[in-house]
Amino acid sequence: MYQSQTVIGRTLAAKDAALEDCIWPEDALHAIPDWVYTSAAVYEKEIEVIFHGKTWNYVALEAEVPNPGDYKRSYVGPTPVVVSRAEDGSINVFENRCAHRGAEFCRHSQGNAKEFVCPYHQWSYDLKGNLQGIPFKRGVNRIGGMPKDFRNEQHGLRKLRVTTRHGVVFASYSEETEPLEEYLTPEILADFDTVFPGKPLKVLGYYRNELPCNWKMYHENLKDPYHATLLHSFLVVFGLLVAGNKSAMLVDTVHGRHGTMASAKSEDKYAKVSDENKKEMRSFHDGLSLRDDRFLEFVKEFDSPWSVTMQTIWPNLIVQREMNTLGVRQIVPNGPDSMIMQWTMFGYEDDTPEMQRHRLRQGNLMGPAGFLGLEDNEAMKFVQEGVRRASTGVNVLKLESGKLGTSDSLISEAAIRSMYAYYRQVMGIPVGGAQ
Ligand SMILES: [Fe+2]
Repeated sequence: MYQSQTVIGRTLAAKDAALEDCIWPEDALHAIPDWVYTSAAVYEKEIEVIFHGKTWNYVALEAEVPNPGDYKRSYVGPTPVVVSRAEDGSINVFENRCAHRGAEFCRHSQGNAKEFVCPYHQWSYDLKGNLQGIPFKRGVNRIGGMPKDFRNEQHGLRKLRVTTRHGVVFASYSEETEPLEEYLTPEILADFDTVFPGKPLKVLGYYRNELPCNWKMYHENLKDPYHATLLHSFLVVFGLLVAGNKSAMLVDTVHGRHGTMASAKSEDKYAKVSDENKKEMRSFHDGLSLRDDRFLEFVKEFDSPWSVTMQTIWPNLIVQREMNTLGVRQIVPNGPDSMIMQWTMFGYEDDTPEMQRHRLRQGNLMGPAGFLGLEDNEAMKFVQEGVRRASTGVNVLKLESGKLGTSDSLISEAAIRSMYAYYRQVMGIPVGGAQ
């Protein structure tokens, strides 16, 4: 008994590994060490080199800030920011942290303002984040106040670079991040532009939930078509994604960090699954049907061979096109063991009222309690609990062994492998640790 406690103690320490102890297992393509999900030191480095590094982070849709003065609270990694439309029409992103004493000054999730005023000492900022006013700057009766050489322009909010494409707003801490189109790479950009062709978007609603798991698990989940055919009863029973459907797990060819899980729904309303395949799928149930068939209607509206494209855009964006339900999901990491997911569901301004109702109805697939979202949330929680508490230390990644990049098979882990090959490089993690 005492011996096993010692083993557990040692294992838990390894899960909170210091960076210098983080050496990827020797068989790097086929193993993921637990500490990528549990170590606080790894998490801090991810914030520095990934979210605050050379990346474009999704922060808002332009449709959320259409007019001068419109603003939205958002996040880059875990860092709170404000997205603000200034009088000149420009979109600005700055940290939601008063330059004076650090208060998160913007408290409303969305709104319209002429200026931003910190509630603590009422320092005020314009819509571009410049400091414009300080109460009692010259003191009272010339006693107290700021030093004479204090310059407002040296004490504005920390501003981020901003770029937009077809109504989607991204921000970056780095001056070196390449132009967005180059960042996304051609094959990812093509499916992105299918969902965002440049016509005005209409926001239909929001969900927000906390997931008790590491933020990278969400990327993995959407680079893991294997689970989709097994975990999700709804997908397989109603034929949305069945092993054998036309499908692909696309990976960007430049870095391997972005992906698109793509599939084409079978023509039949309900899946035709061979008896042999059924045996492999415990989540398949014969004889189920929907009371309201309209739920699964697919109105073909895009010039695309796919009825579903789920895009993972590094590091914090999911672009969801599941038949006619469209959305963006923003990953907000919240420590190694937690993330916040912010879902924004949308359609287009030119949708007919029927199409808008259809998108809202089909939107029940998604969200924290959606017919598809629900099971992923649970599965990722189970994984976090497992890697945090158990003693094994390494996860196995051997489907389509050795392969990196795009795969036509759903029974593959090549896209996850590609993401971690990129991750090791950007994090500077050496390979060669014991298995
Ligand atoms: Fe899933």
